[in-house]
Amino acid sequence: MIDYRSAGRLPRKPHTVFRDDAGNLLHEYCFTRVGFDGPFTISYHRRPPQDHGDGAPHPSLWPQRVEASFDSGDPLRRRHLRSQDLGPGGSPTSGRRPLLFNADLTLGVVCPTEDDAYYFANGDGDDLFYIHKGGGEVRSSYGNLTFGPGDYVLIPRSVIHRIVLDGSPQHWFWMECRSGLRTPNQYRNPVGQLRMDAPYTHRDFRSPALPDVIDPDGPRVVVSKRRDRFSRHLYRHEVLDTVGWDGTVYPFVFPISRFSPKAGQVHLPPTVHGTFATGGSLVCSFVPRVVDFGEGAIPCPYPHSNVDVDEVIFYCDGDFTSRRGVSGGSLSFHPAGVPHGPQPGAYERSVGVKSVTELAVMIDTFEPLRITEAGMSLEKPDYDESWWSA
Ligand SMILES: [Fe+2]
Repeated sequence: MIDYRSAGRLPRKPHTVFRDDAGNLLHEYCFTRVGFDGPFTISYHRRPPQDHGDGAPHPSLWPQRVEASFDSGDPLRRRHLRSQDLGPGGSPTSGRRPLLFNADLTLGVVCPTEDDAYYFANGDGDDLFYIHKGGGEVRSSYGNLTFGPGDYVLIPRSVIHRIVLDGSPQHWFWMECRSGLRTPNQYRNPVGQLRMDAPYTHRDFRSPALPDVIDPDGPRVVVSKRRDRFSRHLYRHEVLDTVGWDGTVYPFVFPISRFSPKAGQVHLPPTVHGTFATGGSLVCSFVPRVVDFGEGAIPCPYPHSNVDVDEVIFYCDGDFTSRRGVSGGSLSFHPAGVPHGPQPGAYERSVGVKSVTELAVMIDTFEPLRITEAGMSLEKPDYDESWWSA
């Protein structure tokens, strides 16, 4: 939902006769959000998109979102989850591991080793991946979209797709955004264009290219998910047979390196790093940048209590001024209710620093997050005590 785009062949007007070169009628498909009031895309297909059948239950492709029991030790504490310790496995869909969740979000990691052998349609939310390592291609009804390290990849709710890997080791941070993902409202002007002072431009977002054949010899099976229940649907024809589309709903890639950071005379709040928003969360990008330049400025984030917000950071690369003991793949989970801030010495050391190399993705959520058993299993002990001065 970045802007209006189109690909392939389209009739002059929607809902009118449109034929292929042999004279066959092509089939229109309207893909709408918020009933018929929200963003939409209209696509054209060689076969009717509704021609599927034999809908049946399908085993869960990934562990359900279940809170770790309080009995197993779930007090309010700051946690360090090492997703780099999670063994690789599964496909981009079956390899997902929910670590934290609330009604708005599922946060997890995926380290897939094999391609999806079926198409998937997540009816529970928009899937946003941050590609820490790896790459591949999203094949969907909108065409093919390649991605690599440092890319955000968005797949909108219910878009039929599969992901084919490029053969390199994969490590992705995954956000299932149940209320939908958008750009923050303040980045848009009255006609919906990204403002000139937004931290990115329309040109920074890549959308799928539409070849004549999207997925040669692709599967004839679609697995859907709605209310956390998986179902299987069979097709008797090629599933991805789009000849053209236009609209505002389509998968996109946004490279985190295209985010333009801001610096101030003194420290600016994390909201200046805002990249995407959901109904109850803000996704922020911390990228290498010049830091606070005023006389006496302390570039390191100040100790704080953001009393209504839980905070999760996925650490990617570089040197983190405020945190020690974390590395690429680490997640910190700082729940509201207790203060957090720089670890001992970091505040003082940051004085006079001109620039930072950190690369990280942060999520602030209004509804408290709950941790899963898988999340608990990745917790590094003693993190909550690492603020104690020697
Ligand atoms: Fe914070």
